[in-house]
Amino acid sequence: MNILIINGPNLNLLGVREPDTYGSQSFEDYLSILQNKFSSIEIDYFQSNSEGEIINKIHEYGFSGIGIVLNAGAYTHTSVALADAISAVDSPVIEVHISNVFKREEFRHRSFLSPVCKGVISGFGLDSYRLAIEALLKM
Ligand code: DQA
Repeated sequence: MNILIINGPNLNLLGVREPDTYGSQSFEDYLSILQNKFSSIEIDYFQSNSEGEIINKIHEYGFSGIGIVLNAGAYTHTSVALADAISAVDSPVIEVHISNVFKREEFRHRSFLSPVCKGVISGFGLDSYRLAIEALLKM
């Protein structure tokens, strides 16, 4: 019973980066709260600023486990390659965003990933990840 959370570029700086938009908690702190809350499953975590590494991780994980929670950061709005990786695997992928991307600049309204993801959760702060895990567990 595994779920993999993947965070994309610049999300290693959560807690420090633009706190008005992304909050002041580090992802590592939040992750241990999630792992305690969902103690009956294993929650694995991977962060990379590199598109290719994220694609490799989706390939590695995407044929086993419960599913993937993916915050691809800015690659959401640019990456056909990530969309193809999501289409290529069996595991359901849920797209998450900490901020409400639809309230922000127009270029953030477009996602190459949404059409190939199971669903999208955007705008609930770090709680977006919990909501995505709840959704995967109900599938
Ligand atoms: C983000 C939104 C993206 O537009 C942005 O590039 C990010 C973070 C979010 O979680 O709100 O890096 O995915």
